[in-house]
Amino acid sequence: MKTIFINIKELLQIRSSKISFLSGKEMRELPSIKDAFLVVENGLIADYGSMNNCPKGTFNKTINATGKILLPAWCDSHTHLVYAGNREHEFVDRINGLSYEDIAKKGGGILNSAKELQKTSGEELYQQSKVRLEEVIKQGTGAIEIKSGYGLTTESELKMLHVIKRLKEEYPIEIKSTFLAAHALPKAFKNNKPKYLETIIEGLLPLVAEENLAEYIDVFCETGYFSVKDTDLILRAGKKYGLIPKIHVNQFTSIGGVQKGIEYNALSIDHLEEMRDIDIDALQNTKTMPVALPGCSFFLGIPYTPARKMINAGLPLALATDYNPGSSPSGNMNFIVSTACIKMKMTPEEAINAATINGAYAMGLEKSVGSITIGKKANVLLTKPINSYGVIPYSFGTNHIEKTFIKGIEVK
Ligand code: NIG
Ligand code: FE
Repeated sequence: MKTIFINIKELLQIRSSKISFLSGKEMRELPSIKDAFLVVENGLIADYGSMNNCPKGTFNKTINATGKILLPAWCDSHTHLVYAGNREHEFVDRINGLSYEDIAKKGGGILNSAKELQKTSGEELYQQSKVRLEEVIKQGTGAIEIKSGYGLTTESELKMLHVIKRLKEEYPIEIKSTFLAAHALPKAFKNNKPKYLETIIEGLLPLVAEENLAEYIDVFCETGYFSVKDTDLILRAGKKYGLIPKIHVNQFTSIGGVQKGIEYNALSIDHLEEMRDIDIDALQNTKTMPVALPGCSFFLGIPYTPARKMINAGLPLALATDYNPGSSPSGNMNFIVSTACIKMKMTPEEAINAATINGAYAMGLEKSVGSITIGKKANVLLTKPINSYGVIPYSFGTNHIEKTFIKGIEVK
């Protein structure tokens, strides 16, 4: 199967060699070709270049992209897309003055979603989750990470992970799975956190590993949730089973989670709304990708990750949605790219780099997606006719995505 896209107004994020990620000043550059073609063969990017050199051979399909921009599909490296029901009522509670922490202290928040998920069947959970997955693919996402963490019992954590596994089997997009049983302390363990940690480490982890249900391990390392010491225990146990850390840190407080993640060679550390200089310094010259989740800052009204300060200090940065019912009920990466530009003062080039190649790295997929590179999967998105790529973040809230292609095939 050979497909050619012709007359592409601008082909973005072309990288002749497979880079891992971009840091600091490198993020300002977004290499492109205007008036371009792209050839896809058996799902992989086989050739690209200027229309002046457009190949004349025979193709199974020719797609005319006049006026439209083609770029790698979004790489969303942090989501909780598998969940049951929603938390609309808490949204109204927050409008009426309660904070996210107030709601959690009253037994709501993550525990509310856990209660809902525990009484939802695996089949129903799959049905609810697939609707969200299909929606985000249409919005341009071509690779995604999904976490457990709303089960909080052995049975329900496994139920979530099985749903993620089924999504992987049924959908062509790249999906990575993360084990996040240390998301909140279940009511049943209210006065016995060590027992819950033991349940995770000795009860659940071996089962997750045995069935190969996750690539990554996560902890909500935060005041009132799991301490740095708890995080250490979980990451150490995960390491024994080959699970690489991708952890929630510095959402509300900076307590040393950044340093703990780096100590364990975390692939990414995510949230980072509260960053001290020592946290920024600790990230220098590491292979750990910092990930900002501006949808959460927007929705909860908390500070945005100090992207400018971090990028100016030479660090890389990835952007993800954090799609979840409590702090970011949207999986729309276009909105994330917009918000990063509008609220975090990232340039469109920086934001697009953060949402493609750096996002791919943050889920271990930089060798297969995230840039227009020969041999990578043709997971790409085609915009509607637009003036320039800057319009994507500029005119926020408008859907500029016409089609998403996964391995070169249009997703209907
Ligand atoms: O990344 N902060 C921890 N976990 C999620 C929110 C979970 C929830 O409120 O349901 C997050 O923001
Ligand atoms: Fe999250």
